[in-house]
Amino acid sequence: MKITVVGAGAVGATCADNIARKELASELVLLDIKEGFAEGKAQDMMQTAALLGFDTRISGSTNDYTKTANSDVVVITSGLPRKPGMTREELIGTNAGIVKGVCENILKHSPNAIIIVISNPMDTMTYLALQSTGLPKNRIIGMGGTLDSARFKYQLSAALDCSPADLNALVVGGHGDTTMIPLIKHATWNSIPVTQFLSEEQQEKIIADTMVGGATLTKLLGTSAWYAPGAAGAALVESIVRDEKKLFTCCVSLNGEYGQNDICLGVPVVIGKNGWEKIVDMDLSASEQAAFNKSADAVRSMNDVLKTL
Ligand code: 2OP
Repeated sequence: MKITVVGAGAVGATCADNIARKELASELVLLDIKEGFAEGKAQDMMQTAALLGFDTRISGSTNDYTKTANSDVVVITSGLPRKPGMTREELIGTNAGIVKGVCENILKHSPNAIIIVISNPMDTMTYLALQSTGLPKNRIIGMGGTLDSARFKYQLSAALDCSPADLNALVVGGHGDTTMIPLIKHATWNSIPVTQFLSEEQQEKIIADTMVGGATLTKLLGTSAWYAPGAAGAALVESIVRDEKKLFTCCVSLNGEYGQNDICLGVPVVIGKNGWEKIVDMDLSASEQAAFNKSADAVRSMNDVLKTL
């Protein structure tokens, strides 16, 4: 198994580190445009192999895509990160050109790769990757909802004083501060609805804190977060390479599902060796469906900006 992570910044490097520690690949390539940067990170990570006991060979490449040849899975993290006060959407102009170029280069050398998109604005970058490559839709996966659901579980676990691993909770819709939809009425603590333990006010706070989860960290860190985004990318890689068929919320192409067409948006999907293998239908209430439609409208107008670039 060979995996490439494009972009050796904090998110890409964290994702690669998780992939190596879990031994998800025999070969892992880290690629970046900054001279020597990916090579340095790869070497630093390889020097943890003897300490952590993993067997993945990690190498770095300064923009030489021949080194990525025959990758089975490629994670794209390239592009500018958010700065404090910035929305993910403001990155579209710069990141669209970068993501399109990365996809072209990757597919020249790895025509069968499954692509995971992390770059922001993630919903639009996923849509762009699908449109520009013409790949079968199941091979393009946007990571956003996986991260947002993990952040939702974090907020729920803090309020319930319970283990996040005991929670089932999904965030659907877009990966934006105002477009994501934490589905609290469907969330359970080992099958018990969490709403049983939380007042309306607590529920509203958990939803609001989840939605600004990324922005809160950007403010604290001065740039966007990396541990959870990197781990979310690696969790998807794991489900693909081990064919786990785990259910995650991912941004995928919708063709009538959840009442939407010609858009990539976060919905529950099964992730396995073929990429996203199935969209899982959920019974959304009228208000949840209305929020989903509103989220789709916002993402669609962001996608329209691509036509003007
Ligand atoms: C975040 O929400 C990087 O979009 C990512 O932290």
